[in-house]
Amino acid sequence: MSTMMPDLEGYFRGLVPGGDDLVLELEEEAARESIPIVGPVVGELLFVLATATGAARILELGTATGYSGIFLGRAAAASHGRVITLEHDEAMAARARANLSRARLAQVVEVRVGEALKLMAEMFGPFDLIFLDIDKESYRPALAHAQRLLRLGGLLVADNVGFSGAADFNRELLKNPAWRAVHLLSLLPRHSPEQDGLALAVRVA
Ligand SMILES: C[S@@+](CC[C@H](N)C(=O)[O-])C[C@H]1O[C@@H](n2cnc3c(N)ncnc32)[C@H](O)[C@@H]1O
Repeated sequence: MSTMMPDLEGYFRGLVPGGDDLVLELEEEAARESIPIVGPVVGELLFVLATATGAARILELGTATGYSGIFLGRAAAASHGRVITLEHDEAMAARARANLSRARLAQVVEVRVGEALKLMAEMFGPFDLIFLDIDKESYRPALAHAQRLLRLGGLLVADNVGFSGAADFNRELLKNPAWRAVHLLSLLPRHSPEQDGLALAVRVA
């Protein structure tokens, strides 16, 4: 009979996907400068989800240095798709553009500077996948925009739903009949923080 691993957390810390030199450099830089990037597990999860769903039109809220944008951009590139990523900090957006160029994704990932909710309000869909990673208090208002911008059957991924600022969003996602959603408490090595929640939702109406 198979039994559970004795040290599950330690075991799963040993199963973290490795990255290329650029990805590793951005992880080191983020650790040094306390930039809250998603880290290798959520990065790879984004790549897997975007690839598995064939997402060609992707919207990201919260660019930072472009780390998660590289995972999404690589998935989109394989479907000849594009990513739009929103960031209100000009200096961060400039760093992201430089990193995305280094990843040869400058033609795939477009960084737009501004307040994400305001930019979303002016956008037209449809998108196949939307990833939320901005200030958590904006998740709930972003949900209404996501419902308009995401195609029926499109995927919404939200990071950091273990933060108290995401509580309204979490409740709304479960009670709004436009969405079918799951919340996952996860161990996420090199994510900020290491233990956090992720929400995955599909737009069903
Ligand atoms: C958690 S970091 C994003 C990390 C990035 N997704 C990654 O993993 O590489 C959040 C970023 O969103 C930006 N941000 C936060 N709230 C925002 C908002 N309301 N509108 C636009 N950008 C926002 C911050 O400046 C920060 O760079």
